[in-house]
Amino acid sequence: MTPDIASAWQALAAHAESQESRHLRQLFAEDPARFEKFSCVAGDLFADFSKQRVTEETLERLHSFARARDVESWRARMLAGEAINHTEGRAVRHMELRKPEAEALPEVRASRARMRAFCADIHSGSARGFTDQPFTDVVNLGIGGSDLGPRMAARALTAFHHPRLKVHFVSNIDGADLQPLLLGLNPATTLFIVASKTFGTQETLANAHSALEWLLNRVGTAPEAREEAVRRHFAAVSSHLAATTTFGIPPERVFGFQDWVGGRFSLWSPVGLALALALGFPHFERLLAGAHTLDTHFLQTPARQNLPLILALLEVWNVNFLRAKSHGFFPYSQSLELLPAYLQQLEMESLGKAVDRQGERCPYATSSIVWGSAGTNGQHSFFQLLHQSGQLIPADFLLLREADFALPGHHPQLVANALAQAAALAFGQTPAEARAAGIPEALLPYRSFPGNQPSTLLLLPQLTPHTLGQLLALYEHKVFCLGILWNLNAFDQWGVELGKYMAKSILPHLTGEADASALDASTRGLLRRLKMGSSV
Ligand code: F6P
Repeated sequence: MTPDIASAWQALAAHAESQESRHLRQLFAEDPARFEKFSCVAGDLFADFSKQRVTEETLERLHSFARARDVESWRARMLAGEAINHTEGRAVRHMELRKPEAEALPEVRASRARMRAFCADIHSGSARGFTDQPFTDVVNLGIGGSDLGPRMAARALTAFHHPRLKVHFVSNIDGADLQPLLLGLNPATTLFIVASKTFGTQETLANAHSALEWLLNRVGTAPEAREEAVRRHFAAVSSHLAATTTFGIPPERVFGFQDWVGGRFSLWSPVGLALALALGFPHFERLLAGAHTLDTHFLQTPARQNLPLILALLEVWNVNFLRAKSHGFFPYSQSLELLPAYLQQLEMESLGKAVDRQGERCPYATSSIVWGSAGTNGQHSFFQLLHQSGQLIPADFLLLREADFALPGHHPQLVANALAQAAALAFGQTPAEARAAGIPEALLPYRSFPGNQPSTLLLLPQLTPHTLGQLLALYEHKVFCLGILWNLNAFDQWGVELGKYMAKSILPHLTGEADASALDASTRGLLRRLKMGSSV
């Protein structure tokens, strides 16, 4: 750490020590304007972070730390296309993908035009399968960044789905993902999108080959039949044209993108093709426009009102100074039920690292375990632990002002629950209050609530492509800021490689003869139990 970073850090540590015993009840009692002071607007999003355990002084010190880390100049370096993903020598330019048409790079405009035309062909029925029928179903075969974003957004935007096309997502190499889906589909009217930036991901290729087999069972295996089946029924989203050609997908059905689009930031690229098909391209464009709105906020809003930066600083405060280990995301919106899974990749694949940009071990904690599920379901399972385990678990609550599915009476109940949980977690209930509420004396130890659990509540006016785009870009920029604040490269993911490599070396033991002596004793023992491969 340079002296200015170290002194900002030490100031935060000393401040944290002086604040340790303070309760959110006290912070609210001391400052009647707390809600106004600790809330902000970004695009259509409203964030209330008054229930975070911070004071004005805390924020002041956090912002000094951000200045010492030079977040603004790193942001400018990202914007200028510098290779800030230094371990892969790549720029980080996903913001280019959501610029308005007039400002977009020519290659982005061209790629959008191809996606738009493809969506029109599929929706109008001018692109057809081998029996000359229009497509009724699209299956996206991809995993990680080539699955989570479009899958989550398609689920979130059910209310906007195209009426005549069903879009499905398959990611797992487990046949239990693909096979049951195929049982309910008609090969003649099913289109597969193989989404893989590298076109080398084991799961996706295995699923693509099995999907092709399924088609060939219907059209026959003669070379012309196979070629016709792939040509009509497959499209690819990939940066690896040679590999898509080997699979047999003609170049006009391959939607490429640049290496400056990281997998978990790729929803806005052709990786969003399945989503665009699910919604129709105009809605997909609204999603891009929403993300651009948040980009503009992030790039132009002063630090004190800059929501992505504020969320990142609150995370630093909670992880490094209040020693939180995990972060719960609780969308009070069933439509956003897949958001926690999406954020798990975005945050944990980006920040789950402990080696800094200089290759040194970080002398401070980094990254939280991200988890969560849609409210109110969580209230009837894990919220017990949040209320009474004594573990500090910061949370984000997400709430829609207007329901996307307005079943009479439901939305006010949902909203009441979200507000109640955030307040109960923050303020708890003292034994005296429990006694006053009529709780029998013997039960008081069990029926009081310590509170002081910090949370931020994000309010969206409605769940639309435009507001969803804003929400996702907000979290992307939060991750960028955290990468700078923790001095990590948030854009590589070397940690996923070792397991992939080892799976390749174990596979021969499961499918045939191989010398197992190089394997560890536990893996050898498990292979014996599995009774696969005869030399183990
Ligand atoms: O294994 C991790 C990962 O590389 C992710 O970063 C990525 O989103 C995912 O695999 C899928 O990769 P691809 O799009 O190349 O198939």
